Amino acid sequence: MSDANQFDTIVLGAGAAGLFHAGLAGQRGRRVLVLDHAKRPADKVRISGGGRCNFTNLETRADRFLGQNLHFAKSALARYTPWDFISLMAAHGLTYTEKHKGQLFCDQKSGAIIKMLLDECEKGSAEIRLSTEISGVTHQDGRFLVETRSGAVSGQRLVVATGGLSIPKMGATALAYDIARQFGHDIVETRPGLVPFTFSGELGEKFAAISGVAAPVIASVPGARFEEDLLFTHRGLSGPAALQTSSYWTSGEPLSLCLQTSEDMNAALRAAKQDSPKQTFVKALEAHVPARLAALLAEVGPIAQDARLADLSHAAIDEFAAFLKDWRVTPMGTEGYRTAEVTVGGISTDGLNQKTMESRHVPGLYFIGECVDVTGWLGGYNFQWAWASAHAAALA
Ligand code: FDA
Repeated sequence: MSDANQFDTIVLGAGAAGLFHAGLAGQRGRRVLVLDHAKRPADKVRISGGGRCNFTNLETRADRFLGQNLHFAKSALARYTPWDFISLMAAHGLTYTEKHKGQLFCDQKSGAIIKMLLDECEKGSAEIRLSTEISGVTHQDGRFLVETRSGAVSGQRLVVATGGLSIPKMGATALAYDIARQFGHDIVETRPGLVPFTFSGELGEKFAAISGVAAPVIASVPGARFEEDLLFTHRGLSGPAALQTSSYWTSGEPLSLCLQTSEDMNAALRAAKQDSPKQTFVKALEAHVPARLAALLAEVGPIAQDARLADLSHAAIDEFAAFLKDWRVTPMGTEGYRTAEVTVGGISTDGLNQKTMESRHVPGLYFIGECVDVTGWLGGYNFQWAWASAHAAALA
């Protein structure tokens, strides 16, 4: 094999983690090659955060992540923090705005983050080969041989950063899991995360009828509780409250929705009964939730919508207030990998060194980014994991 195809490090995947790793490793003096089957690098960075890339979260902590070993991510996250990425951006003249709950968005849009990642690769003389199909990987005499349609390349280290299964239309594949299995790693069962819920039947029709309505709720499933906005859609439920809980949801289980986020609805409805006894119940409810949602709640809840407040007993109001605190709805499913922002599960962290992301089975083999069984909440956590895990492997 010619020298032109021999490298210190071969990175599979020119996404967030792969590009970031390549820049760092190249700048540490390694000869780096990045391979990707896509025509353009980092397409998910491009579309992320509505085109403004929610690149990190100031509240980054290990408990904002899911995975079988919740401690695994701690080391990498502690050694590369949101402030490290902010400093790198500042060095490239990029600024940010904090939007909601610590979420940082790039003022110059996501294209500027991609340019920064590519500039860092150039600084490290990392070579990037796009539109390159990978047909197999072998390990012989301490080196990795990667077969591609345009010939074989070899590297002393192989860094797998080909991401998870979400959005196959954007080129997501199971390559990372296949390579992991080939080298003896276990895969924690994968499922779509940060994904809208779908509903069928009468409730599905009711949600579709108020599609576009949003309301603040506390959404919970066993093990998770999020106070965020919920959005009713033609297919079911979306918005941050639904996306966050979807990562923790078990098929067939109900979600609990609490619509009393700030007010004591019991006291408010009792006061309304006192002040305007002739008002209909649904009209009184409209003072607290959007009108179309009020009508839906009155249809599915325990009080008839045309009931007058004067005719309602305190017990009936108590019952309705309790319903608003814990409205149980059971999704039919989720929109799946087609629209999921992330993949929950992935390469088991049991087989990886938490300081370096190196395989415990094969020296020189690393897994970084979303392919690992570390999944962040909505809000910049997944990119922070991509940067931190890429950094940990580059320092190794
Ligand atoms: P990533 O998916 O970025 O990169 C993998 C690369 O590998 C891709 O370039 C792909 O083409 C390549 N590849 C895959 N299979 C291959 C194969 N067989 N051969 C060759 N190459 C292959 N997160 C966040 O923190 N803030 C946000 O704002 C958003 N927003 C967002 C919006 C949408 C619509 C999605 C789908 C996702 C997000 N995310 C997010 C999640 C975030 O994009 C994701 O967690 C990271 O991009 C993961 O980085 P990786 O580098 O691990 O994979």
